Amino acid sequence: MLVTRFSPHLFPWRLLLLFLTLVGSSNGAVAAPAKAHPPRPKAAAGFGYKLVSLVELPNGGGLVGSLQLKQPSSTYGPDIARLRLFVKHETQDRVRVQITDAEKQRWEVPYDLLPREPAPPLTKLPGGAPFTTGEYSGQSLSFTYGRDPFHFAVHRKSTGQTLFNTSHGGPLVFKDQYLELTTRLPKDAALYGLGENTQPGGIKLRPNDPYTIFTTDASAINLNTDLYGSHPVYVDLRNIGGHGVAHAVLLLNSNAMDVFYRGDSLTYKVIGGLLDFYFFAGPTPLAVVDQYTAMIGRPAPMPYWAFGFHQCRWGYQNLSVVEAVVEGYRNAQIPLDVIWNDDDHMDAAKDFTLDPVNYPRPKLLAFLDKIHAQGMKYIVLIDPGIAVNSSYGVYQRGMERDIFIKLDGQPYLAQVWPGPVYFPDFLNPNGASWWIDEVRRFHELVPVDGLWIDMNEVSNFCTGKCTIPTTHKCPVPNSKEPWLCCLDCKNLTNTRWDDPPYKINASGKSAPLGYNTIATSATHYNGILEYNAHSLYGFSQAIATHKGLQGLQGKRPFILTRSTFVGSGAYAAHWTGDNKGTWENLRYSISTILNFGIFGMPMVGADICGFYPADPNLLEELCSRWIELGAFYPFSRDHANFASPRQELYIWGSVAKSARNALGMRYRMLPYLYTLNYHAHQSGAPVARPLFFAFPDFVPGYGVSTQFLLGDSVMVSPVLEQGATSVSAVFPPGTWYNLFDTRKVIVSGNNGDAVKLDAPLNEINVHVHEGTVLPLQRGGSISRDARATPFTLVIAFPFGAADADAEGAVYVDDDERPAMVLAEGEATYVRFHASVRGGKEVTVRSEVSMGSYSLKKGLVVEKLSVLGLEGSGRDLAVRVDGTEEADATAIAVASAHFVGADEKLQEVGKKRSVMVEVGGLALPLGKSFTMTWNMHIQA
Ligand SMILES: *[C@@H]1O[C@H](CO)[C@@H](O)[C@H](O)[C@H]1NC(C)=O
Ligand SMILES: *[C@@H]1O[C@H](CO)[C@@H](O)[C@H](O)[C@H]1NC(C)=O
Ligand SMILES: *[C@@H]1O[C@H](CO)[C@@H](O)[C@H](O)[C@H]1NC(C)=O
Ligand SMILES: *[C@@H]1O[C@H](CO)[C@@H](O)[C@H](O)[C@H]1NC(C)=O
Ligand SMILES: *[C@@H]1O[C@H](CO)[C@@H](O)[C@H](O)[C@H]1NC(C)=O
Repeated sequence: MLVTRFSPHLFPWRLLLLFLTLVGSSNGAVAAPAKAHPPRPKAAAGFGYKLVSLVELPNGGGLVGSLQLKQPSSTYGPDIARLRLFVKHETQDRVRVQITDAEKQRWEVPYDLLPREPAPPLTKLPGGAPFTTGEYSGQSLSFTYGRDPFHFAVHRKSTGQTLFNTSHGGPLVFKDQYLELTTRLPKDAALYGLGENTQPGGIKLRPNDPYTIFTTDASAINLNTDLYGSHPVYVDLRNIGGHGVAHAVLLLNSNAMDVFYRGDSLTYKVIGGLLDFYFFAGPTPLAVVDQYTAMIGRPAPMPYWAFGFHQCRWGYQNLSVVEAVVEGYRNAQIPLDVIWNDDDHMDAAKDFTLDPVNYPRPKLLAFLDKIHAQGMKYIVLIDPGIAVNSSYGVYQRGMERDIFIKLDGQPYLAQVWPGPVYFPDFLNPNGASWWIDEVRRFHELVPVDGLWIDMNEVSNFCTGKCTIPTTHKCPVPNSKEPWLCCLDCKNLTNTRWDDPPYKINASGKSAPLGYNTIATSATHYNGILEYNAHSLYGFSQAIATHKGLQGLQGKRPFILTRSTFVGSGAYAAHWTGDNKGTWENLRYSISTILNFGIFGMPMVGADICGFYPADPNLLEELCSRWIELGAFYPFSRDHANFASPRQELYIWGSVAKSARNALGMRYRMLPYLYTLNYHAHQSGAPVARPLFFAFPDFVPGYGVSTQFLLGDSVMVSPVLEQGATSVSAVFPPGTWYNLFDTRKVIVSGNNGDAVKLDAPLNEINVHVHEGTVLPLQRGGSISRDARATPFTLVIAFPFGAADADAEGAVYVDDDERPAMVLAEGEATYVRFHASVRGGKEVTVRSEVSMGSYSLKKGLVVEKLSVLGLEGSGRDLAVRVDGTEEADATAIAVASAHFVGADEKLQEVGKKRSVMVEVGGLALPLGKSFTMTWNMHIQA
């Protein structure tokens, strides 16, 4: 075989890909017309394999085994007779178990898209010694197996807890177009992930809901079906002896699949590629995402302004309308950082063009000069489909470089907004470089601050093999329904790629694989089948777009992408796609956002107030509640459809009030959000987190999908019901202070009893947990200005505790540098520590790394708000660095609510408790300080 000529150390992956895709496509091209496959529910898909040899490669290279088919089955095609097993502890906390055809290279996610440790080649293995023990251990995880039938298990070494066990789940099945494997699971395991999917039941996976994974332009209003992204990964959280212990399992595979979760088992049915499992040991949820993103790529650093508020609408007919929107926000004093265009700026929906009438370039440039001078940003949408039009330069250059996806040797014809289009192939190096060049050309035309890549599942208004009609115009002139297919098309059913033997539950209705997308028998570069690479389209486009933007002006790119795959978070942000202005959609947004944090894509939000039109009479109240929640999405954008009523936040007085309130707090919290962005980039830690991330032992929090955390210690409890003026919220154990009025306190035990919180129409409940030092600034209406204002440190001790500590941190940098690193002169990181001892002695100190950047920017701390102390606040002698004195006042607690908290705390609550404010400071943030004082305790 071709591959045997290469040394495993210098393995040329691109050639390997070429080889395997040639093999794949020749099979495809000569495939006999598929026979009809009547449903055969009773026939077993397979009978399993037997492990016939197992060797251990030298130098920790892993185990390599050989599996022999036990008995053939013809359901879903012939079995592959001999399989190769490869097991390796790639890190202390990660083990990989890969099963593939022993003879022939199969399709797998290209290594240049998702760089990772290679598996050994199929032949020319370094010699190994027979492996005879039953267990192969790494630092944290252990692999065990049985020989006949072959099955395997992964367990946690320290506790013996079994994480995955394929024994007795059903046979391993491995065919060219059908792979099946089942693991058993304990019934009380809580599972999360397997997306992208709108989950009406919340973040915790519900047994027997369908989990189909295949990128599809099905809007987010569709429940329990395959949506825009493909993330075949789940986190499994189990409570063992009172402690939450988590791990994750990734099946790295880009082919379409159904995953069946039955509560006590999980079955994968995949229609191609490899069984390539990665197990991440955790044991904490944060350790899981750290290990996961270490492998798939750390979340991309986002520029500071991306955490500001964004406004978009499809239907800003001309530039004057956009200008009026910016004015509207300004007049209503609602913060706005970024204004967007969705399609309207383009000339006849053609990418990288401007509408000469409604968005004339000179006027647009003047507008951009003006808003850029204020610190605002501008982002526009582009779609992958390139209009077929011989006088359109983008198309001409694409044709010259031959970079479009093909069917039967011709560019594959589809229809999207411009009418007939071809789709560029981002797996083709020329396709990627052509795109990078088009991004550069466009940026010279319009200096946009980011790009929004939409419709990249990829979406096609037609299905099958199409031609430009000769009998009618396409696009239909002045059509009110440009999304109806106007090409002449015929369905493709004649290849096993268009009509595979096993039908996934595509679009919730077992639609043909190529339904409203590229025909799955179409080919990419080097003959790579769309059948295999389909779900990588948006991922490959995000990588190329990122390269394009990164090269411009040396700035940190901002990209918003709809279609995602494992690893997309390293390049782009995501929004949950086309939702609707309903209360259900408001609720669903939380689970999807939390899932993307788990998927390593923490910069995520949902269209605030809803994209598709809703009942206009209900929209005002909904929009108030939505901005209250959306102000705490990591990515916060209002976006509407042209058919929706106008829903900018200033349209209604009441919504404007809610927006000023909630976004006002967001803009004060920007340093915290930006620090979370830094931590996400360092360790994958999500910005928005399910409660179990910070409280893994707190079982009542496992399914909570109506509240969430920002970081470890800020909890958002939105109103999600029409007409409600209170909200029922659970509080993990400890003291929680209302961030809008820190004199309001909740002290919670660990029984998970709900607390009824007041929630008038214009207010949202946001609480900060004990043990936290939260950095806030004064806020403002634009992030550039807000980030220069003085800091307040909110220091939250447990209510009335005698001895307690609190910690926090802040990262500041020049956010336009491409990299987000801690380097002298370019960024500053400050840790804060606070303690109270004996209920009396209070110390607050900071520890600065690389202070010069912050000193250069003149950032100062002006105030401390210290919560949870007791005593009297008069004449507090606050010493700063041992000498200076500062002003301090003590303010009494307004209300304290105890829920399932122990008696002792309640006693303390009856005593006099205060919030101490130390004001009038001007401490340089970039210089370490220590502040001390003693509380006066009354007898
Ligand atoms: C997997 O399940 C089989 C069958 O119940 C059992 O014998 C084996 O011990 C299990 N392996 C692990 C690691 O739990
Ligand atoms: C822009 O569009 C609006 C809404 O359609 C219209 O009223 C206005 O006249 C247009 N202005 C310009 C300058 O075209
Ligand atoms: C093709 O593109 C040119 C230039 O952008 C445009 O003027 C023309 O109307 C387009 N033709 C069609 C059929 O869309
Ligand atoms: C093509 O397939 C689609 C989706 O299954 C179906 O709705 C349509 O009727 C088919 N068209 C023809 C011409 O068979
Ligand atoms: C396919 O998905 C739809 C939508 O979620 C669901 O109603 C249906 O039960 C699923 N079918 C199967 C066989 O799982």
